[in-house]
Amino acid sequence: MPRVFISRKIPGIGMQNLRKFTDDFLVFPYDRPITENELIENIGDVEGLLCLLTDPITRKVIGAGKRLKIIANYAVGYENIDVEYANKRGILVTNTPGVLTDTTAELTWALLLACVRRIVEADRFTREKRFNGWCPTLLLGSELYGKTLGIVGAGSIGTAFALKGKGFGMRVLYHDYYKNEVLENKISAKMVGLEELLKKSDFISLHIPLTEKTYHLIGEREFALMKPFAYLINTSRGAVIDEKELIQALKADRIKGAGLDVYENEPRIPEELIELPNVVLLPHIGSATYEARNKMAETAAENLIAGLTDKTPPNLISIPNTL
Ligand code: DGY
Repeated sequence: MPRVFISRKIPGIGMQNLRKFTDDFLVFPYDRPITENELIENIGDVEGLLCLLTDPITRKVIGAGKRLKIIANYAVGYENIDVEYANKRGILVTNTPGVLTDTTAELTWALLLACVRRIVEADRFTREKRFNGWCPTLLLGSELYGKTLGIVGAGSIGTAFALKGKGFGMRVLYHDYYKNEVLENKISAKMVGLEELLKKSDFISLHIPLTEKTYHLIGEREFALMKPFAYLINTSRGAVIDEKELIQALKADRIKGAGLDVYENEPRIPEELIELPNVVLLPHIGSATYEARNKMAETAAENLIAGLTDKTPPNLISIPNTL
């Protein structure tokens, strides 16, 4: 029976399916991210590893897995895994695409609307019993209708996000390497270069994986190109933004505001960012719905079981992420 290690308890049917598949599995008993050393300690004679995006699956960890056949990440992103090294050693790597697309796109809208209509501030204001009656100038925000939405990365989540926004009546620009026929045909979105998108958009939403090319894609120069009334929303990966430059841009009111679900050095968030009034901060909950997290568990388990029964896992990552 193949031995499986799961680096943290995952919800629902995924665990049940794994239990049915093998009795020989261990779940890391603590409700916190596992460390590199703890992974090394636990992986020695394991054939299947089910891990999270918070787990550093480095060369050292992979090298310690002498019998390792498959690493099934419980996430769509997989920059936590040295995929190239795993592949070199003949170890399969999988992720969970598709199942969290709508959930993450919905959260992105929640975050954008929270920023633009000052929802967090308004809730605090009301709870503090400061609501003395309707007022013409109370907590004014910006209307979305007729404005320009800029989507950086028109993959599945970026596309779902743009399509869900159809009802808001916005003009949509997108930046990607490939033409997106769905966006162009369904909502007349226009493909543009990053510079043009940054200059023309009122709301910019990032939907790109973290790679060497996208690291700090949005930095000082890019903030300077944005409109002073622009909002920047990030539900992808923190390090695609240079966080220090974001703080400077927000402090100097070079942009109007930001909505962040992800951070450069998660879970650490700079105190300076926490203190800023023009940013809404979430604790990386883009995929946090019962539906998505259950489907992620089911998908990760399915991938793992396929890899351990010599079948091709449905969500195999065989090349390093080149986007
Ligand atoms: C992912 O899957 O990569 C998200 O960031 C968390 O679900």
